[in-house]
Amino acid sequence: MRRALVTGASGFLGSYLIRALAGTCDVVGTYAHRAPEASGNFCRLDLGHPEEVETILDELRPEALVHAAAAADLDWCEREPERATAINVEGTRILARWAAAHGCRFLYISTDQVFSGERGLYRESDPASPICHYGHTKQQAETIVRAWVPDSIVLRVALMFGWSTSRHRSASNAIYENLTRGQPVRLFTDQYRSPILVDWVAEVVARLLRLPEASGLWHLGGDQRWSRYEFGLKLAASFGLDPSGLLPIRMAEFSSLAPRGKDCSLDSTRICRLLGRTRFSAEEGLNRLARTSPPRVE
Ligand SMILES: NC(=O)c1ccc[n+]([C@@H]2O[C@H](COP(=O)([O-])OP(=O)(O)OC[C@H]3O[C@@H](n4cnc5c(N)ncnc54)[C@H](OP(=O)(O)O)[C@@H]3O)[C@@H](O)[C@H]2O)c1
Repeated sequence: MRRALVTGASGFLGSYLIRALAGTCDVVGTYAHRAPEASGNFCRLDLGHPEEVETILDELRPEALVHAAAAADLDWCEREPERATAINVEGTRILARWAAAHGCRFLYISTDQVFSGERGLYRESDPASPICHYGHTKQQAETIVRAWVPDSIVLRVALMFGWSTSRHRSASNAIYENLTRGQPVRLFTDQYRSPILVDWVAEVVARLLRLPEASGLWHLGGDQRWSRYEFGLKLAASFGLDPSGLLPIRMAEFSSLAPRGKDCSLDSTRICRLLGRTRFSAEEGLNRLARTSPPRVE
């Protein structure tokens, strides 16, 4: 693989993907609205404009395509369902069709939000059952990718934590920055996920692209099933921050547009076996994060 294209390179995960792939091949990253400030090779690609997308792909001719771009704000997707479908579903269709026609390796980043959250610890064999428009678009995109590119990789990722180096803030940035400023942070006690360090997700993507046997559907999350509130407590402890600013709330007390599943945690047994590791320890991920410089808080 000589050249890879990473869509959504200006996003939280995308910036880590660029770094993880940079040593292995030529990487071009895309953005839609604002070019990343980091050094690298970037071009503008708006999935809402299909004709431009094909022209850009024809020019760049990547041998691998990592599709991480998405309208990823659940409430925005609920408010703007047609635009969300155009970006997440139709945009993905164009990329998958191009990859199929040009023999390009395709890795699609999906989400734990394809599940209703009624049960938790979902396996790849469990049927998807999204309850919000974002989840529906991601599930539809998965189906399109697998139909157009049979040897594609579809990677469903759990909630990611880490410092965002892009203008898109991560949940961990928001918690850290608010607590450091002495501002309260409201976190759900009744919404469970299996958080994973974003660096590991990027490292796994780089490995999967090189494994021919990696084609298919995979779940990737941390080994703990934590509520958002528990995650906040763990993060505060890692950085020695006063946790009293963390305010436990229940989902019913919060008026959000998009319905959110109670427990969308993922079972990552299969991918751990494929990669020859026992688990992705959430505690170890937090320890690793604690050894990095946190964001500067003004
Ligand atoms: N964050 C999580 O915890 C999480 C969990 C599970 C799955 N995921 C999935 O992981 C992927 C990356 O998520 P993220 O949190 O890194 O997202 P993010 O920080 O919100 O970044 C979204 C990226 O998509 C790009 N984008 C938005 N609209 C676009 C359009 N119309 N055309 C082309 N690109 C567009 C953005 O470009 P601009 O910067 O130019 O706007 C940005 O690069 C997504 O597919 C998401 O569904 C995320």
